[in-house]
Amino acid sequence: MIYKNVITYGTFDLLHVGHVRLLRRAKSLEEHLVVALSTDEFNKIKGKTSVLCYEERYEILSAIKYVDKIIPENNWEQKIQDILTEKIDCFVMGNDWEGKFDFLKTYCSVVYLPRTEDISTTQLKTDLKNADETFRTEFFLKNL
Ligand code: CTP
Repeated sequence: MIYKNVITYGTFDLLHVGHVRLLRRAKSLEEHLVVALSTDEFNKIKGKTSVLCYEERYEILSAIKYVDKIIPENNWEQKIQDILTEKIDCFVMGNDWEGKFDFLKTYCSVVYLPRTEDISTTQLKTDLKNADETFRTEFFLKNL
C-alpha cells in the first residue's frame, strides 16, 4: 500500500460495478478509505436527483468491504477541510474528473483512476425507463 488515508467523493446512486471497481482500486492504494457521500441537498445543487435517498445510499455503501468510513458531502468547498480533518494523504476520483482537483495537490496526492466504460447511474436509469416502456407497450398490445 502506498498511502495511509484515501478519500473519494460521489453520489453512488444505484450502486453499480463501475462504483465497486473504483472503490476497490482506491482501497488497493491505502489502508483506510473514506467516502464523502453527496447528500440529497447537495445533489440538488449539482442538478442531480438520486433514486435512492442519502440514508439508503449510505446503508448500501457501508456494506461494501472496501469502505471504512462515510462522511456527508454537503458542498463543493469542503474538500480541503476534509483532507485536514481526516488526515488524508491521497485524494482519488474517476478520470472523468481528470485535472479538476489538481488544486488539492498542495495538501495531498491527487489520483484519477480509470473509469469503467459503458456504465453509469444515468445509463442505468435510462435502461430501466426503456425496459419499463417496452414492457408497458408489450402488455398493452397483448391486452388489446
Ligand atoms: N465511476 C467509475 N466508473 C463508472 C461510473 C462512476 O469509476 N462507470 C466513478 C466516478 O468517476 C466517481 C465515482 O465512481 O469517482 C462516483 O461516481 P458517481 O457520479 O456517483 O456515478 P455515475 O455512475 O457516474 O453517476 P451519474 O451517471 O449520475 O453521473
